[in-house]
Amino acid sequence: MQMDEYCLGSQAVWLDGELLPATLVIRGGVIESVLSRDGAAPAGLPLLDLGEAWILPGMVDTQVHFREPGFPEKEDLESGSRAAVAGGMTAFLEMPNTKPLTVDEASLADKVARATGRCWCDFGFFMGATEENAHRLHELEVLPGCCGVKIFMGSSTGSLLLADDDGLRRALSHGHSRVAVHAEDEGRLRQLKAALEQADHPRWHPRLRDPECARLAVSRLLEASETTGRAVHILHMTSAEEMELLRALPKGVLGGRVSAELTPQHLLLEAPACYEELGWRAVMNPPIREAIHREALWEALREGSIHILGSDHAPHTVEEKGRPYPTAPSGMPGTETMLPLMMDQVLRGRLGLNRLVALLAEEPARLFGISGKGRVAPGMRADFTVVDPGREWAVDEALLQSRCGWSPFHGQRLRGKVSHTIVRGQVVYENGRFATEAKGRPLDFDHAH
Ligand code: DOR
Repeated sequence: MQMDEYCLGSQAVWLDGELLPATLVIRGGVIESVLSRDGAAPAGLPLLDLGEAWILPGMVDTQVHFREPGFPEKEDLESGSRAAVAGGMTAFLEMPNTKPLTVDEASLADKVARATGRCWCDFGFFMGATEENAHRLHELEVLPGCCGVKIFMGSSTGSLLLADDDGLRRALSHGHSRVAVHAEDEGRLRQLKAALEQADHPRWHPRLRDPECARLAVSRLLEASETTGRAVHILHMTSAEEMELLRALPKGVLGGRVSAELTPQHLLLEAPACYEELGWRAVMNPPIREAIHREALWEALREGSIHILGSDHAPHTVEEKGRPYPTAPSGMPGTETMLPLMMDQVLRGRLGLNRLVALLAEEPARLFGISGKGRVAPGMRADFTVVDPGREWAVDEALLQSRCGWSPFHGQRLRGKVSHTIVRGQVVYENGRFATEAKGRPLDFDHAH
């Protein structure tokens, strides 16, 4: 089908918070108009009729590590974006801990060039903050293809780090867009590592990076955000203590100057069982924690204290992950399973569809200033995530697109399946098949928003 001008319809299109029958007129990658289902479509335009499928606003994975350049044995931009679109993602924001690190003009331009026309969806790249570039982040964050700045407060994979308050404040003082932060306290991490030398199994992981690591970093970050007035986005929060810190913020700050992310794995896996059953597959930073924390995350999610779900897709090879704890790298893949896992929760009645659409489409667009995304409405980009709510299936790691070839959710039975992923009007993924050509390009960001 000629995909430049056509009509797209179903019995269930997400329009202003409801699933309604509708037909969308798509021209030049943009939604031109929204028509009622029984009205006549413009003459001559082909109709792609998706029956009962749910046509949702195009979803965005705002936290992925696609490993290019530097680690092609784990993933690259092509394979990572293939996994993303198979999981219903219409765009991704990628992290700077590649090799070389994304910390200046040249490393960013290199990533944009590698991704353009090779990725299956559109993209933005984070600029990593370092002691060296902190004073000129305001110039770097507005470069084409840059979605903002990323700070690591505690060391994880790679060498990016701003461990002390001076560095943190300096980075936050240079620029305007929302800064994404990995908040684990480096000082506390080092103390625990020295004190727990005997830690020799993944079950130690939540103690080596304990809730206090997270609480300390988040409280230091909130203070730095308040002093500098800079908006911050706290990535992959994991503990009841952090949820309390969010709740204690003055009205209007949460969802404004401060936004928060959870991952599906912190909501769905639980210590200690995950470490006993999954071993190295469950190891990531910050760690999967015990039931009391998981329940606090669900409560915060339901009450609206959380704004975004991100996958923290962080693939490593089976061979690397199989090394003895704690020498094996932390991280797990997830961009292909994030929406399916959470849609399953929606279909089992544990989360509202309106919350899921907010967490994966509306809030990513609002908080990162992504132009044209977040809603199905005239004038918006024709980006859609389409789900067949009637299908049941099981995650099979042999069939996943990520190069790493494994998933902690292997074997999980899920309700609801991604049937189509549509980017700027082009069907890039349909029931296991990909378009003939990848046409990904940089997203446009409104950095002044
Ligand atoms: O577990 C993790 N893995 N956490 C991070 O912060 C980085 C990531 C990676 O890049 O492997």
